[in-house]
Amino acid sequence: MEWNISSKTVLITGATSGIGKATLMDLAKSGANVIFTARDVNKAEAVLKEAKELSKNENIEFFEVDLSSFKSISDFLTRFKEKFHNLDILINNAGTWNMKLTLTDDGIEKTFMVNYLAPFYITHSLLPLLFENIPSRIINVSSAMHKGGKINLDNLELKNHYNGIQSYSNSKLMILMFTIELAKRLKDKGVYVFAVHPGLVRTGLFSNFPKPLRDLFLMGAKTPEQGAQTSIYLSKAKDIEYLTGSYFVDSKPTDYLYVADNEELRRKLWDKTIEYIKKYIKDFEPLV
Ligand SMILES: NC(=O)c1ccc[n+]([C@@H]2O[C@H](COP(=O)([O-])OP(=O)(O)OC[C@H]3O[C@@H](n4cnc5c(N)ncnc54)[C@H](OP(=O)(O)O)[C@@H]3O)[C@@H](O)[C@H]2O)c1
Repeated sequence: MEWNISSKTVLITGATSGIGKATLMDLAKSGANVIFTARDVNKAEAVLKEAKELSKNENIEFFEVDLSSFKSISDFLTRFKEKFHNLDILINNAGTWNMKLTLTDDGIEKTFMVNYLAPFYITHSLLPLLFENIPSRIINVSSAMHKGGKINLDNLELKNHYNGIQSYSNSKLMILMFTIELAKRLKDKGVYVFAVHPGLVRTGLFSNFPKPLRDLFLMGAKTPEQGAQTSIYLSKAKDIEYLTGSYFVDSKPTDYLYVADNEELRRKLWDKTIEYIKKYIKDFEPLV
């Protein structure tokens, strides 16, 4: 199938640092029309300037959004949809890792919100734009840490006995299960969905770790440019549509935790997630 990145419109969440920034730089150099999100406008301005200079591509812009706030996401979606009416690639890249229990202004555990509820909500809201440009793609940045994840539908936020490693792992399992379930629901509809583990990458993700633990954890870690390769591959590769719903490591479909194949659990998680979102976004109605 013909797939030329230079004619594509791409939205990347969290491209002010790390893997997202490296993905942005590469896709901008390839001539794509790249939009990224940022919570810090100063950082975003600097990245925008660097990206335009490096790529000689003027079709790059950013939108401010704090992915830990439903209000902020909702405002962003309104502004984005006013300006863009179609989209080829959505890369749900932004992520956080909180070692201590941190609640958002909405009172939701932050890792769960940023890594899972936010991409779920954004993806559903932008599906009409992705339908406009079929074949289109959604790339969800998960992690090999999903293998330590557990889904307890009555305790998704771990608020009572918080454990930062468990919370992060759970969020990455949830985004993987979302990927598989969404791919299934979008079968034959022209929107293809992939999950990624970028590898262990030296980025700001570990800034909440105590320093000795961070140094130990990051021994032998990849650079952000190396870590971005699988997201870049999935953005550019031709003829990968038949692999929709797959989990990619080093640009290859790879086995994931067996729990993610539990269709009943995936559906229950999906329904529970919609319940969560509806508490904050009253008119939220998923298309699939
Ligand atoms: N690094 C690894 O070893 C590794 C391994 C597996 C998976 N991952 C995943 O890779 C993705 C990218 O992470 P990274 O390693 O590149 O880390 P990073 O350098 O910390 O980048 C994370 C990005 O997300 C943004 N972000 C975080 N919280 C946000 C919020 N509340 N609202 C808006 N934006 C927010 C950050 O913005 P700021 O610049 O303002 O902080 C940044 O742009 C994440 O999903 C992560 O879980 C990373």
